[in-house]
Amino acid sequence: MEEKIRALQAQAAAAIEKAANSLEELDGIRVKFLGKKGELTGILRGMGAVAAEERPKVGKIVNEARAQLEELIAQKNAELKTRALEQKLAHEKIDVTLPGRIQPVGHLHPLTLTLERIKKIFMNMGFSVEEGPEIEQDYYNFEALNLPKDHPARDMQDSFYITEDILMRSQTSPVQARTMERNAKAGMANKPIRMIAPGRVYRRDEYDASHSPMFTQVEGLVVDEGISLADLKGTLELFLREIFGEKVGVRFRPSFFPFTEPSAEVDISCVMCHGQGCSACKGTGWMEILGAGMVHPHVLEMSGYDPAKVSGYAFGLGVERITMLAYGVDDLRLFYDNDARFLKQF
Ligand code: DAH
Repeated sequence: MEEKIRALQAQAAAAIEKAANSLEELDGIRVKFLGKKGELTGILRGMGAVAAEERPKVGKIVNEARAQLEELIAQKNAELKTRALEQKLAHEKIDVTLPGRIQPVGHLHPLTLTLERIKKIFMNMGFSVEEGPEIEQDYYNFEALNLPKDHPARDMQDSFYITEDILMRSQTSPVQARTMERNAKAGMANKPIRMIAPGRVYRRDEYDASHSPMFTQVEGLVVDEGISLADLKGTLELFLREIFGEKVGVRFRPSFFPFTEPSAEVDISCVMCHGQGCSACKGTGWMEILGAGMVHPHVLEMSGYDPAKVSGYAFGLGVERITMLAYGVDDLRLFYDNDARFLKQF
């Protein structure tokens, strides 16, 4: 019996040593000798036939053999795993000279780029940057700007009302009234103002190549003693030359806004044909770019400023429109589509 066990042990040890070239093979050997129906296990099962006084001795030998074989299998297992890893590493050489995978990096949206340019130009001229709420009171959006209830000019800015008195602002002009009123309420009526107010505005408009129910404006307001139309013209001309180049033509056309008197529509020479007349400017050679005027005395008064002491000018421009003309974009909707093929060109 003892010899049989020793022989089996030696046979198994040799098999583990030689035949095991893979983990599967090793496992086969383990099952063959040590598995539930394995040969060594078989001997343990047959212990009943062994004489009672022999049993402890034989049992001890079987267990020792089993322990030794398990140890050998564990060793071989570790060896095979190491070899497999070495082989894998040898095959998977990394070529560090290959070019890396480039991570796409985003950048500022074209409207933000234009807005930053506009802000910079005005800040260099000493303007501050103010903000107002996008959800606005009817009073600031219309009434304080000389547009009383039922004023026909409200129709052009037919807006989104939240209640009777609260709406999505249809223009950034309410920031004019808010800024003057804030000064006046702080006991600084007539305090000079030189500000711009950028932000989103909302109107019940079509969504097409040149309209959107949401767009971006920049408001401007300058109030001080002795401010004249010449100041307005000089400032806007300087601004438009910064954006569209030294050679751009600028003209003022009489117009109407309830909060300015006189009011003007400001045109630049056509960015496509430079004044010759083409389809983009409908043959006129000019393109409308912004609205402006001298602040209406009643508007100053309503916000607590004294039109006998100070005067002012104001203007309002569309950031989408300026961006379209400056970069030659022909459809406003491109700004909101978030199509990377469009956006990455800026
Ligand atoms: N708020 C006007 C609009 O949305 C634009 C505008 C015109 C603003 C003339 C002004 C201005 O401050 O003086 O159409």
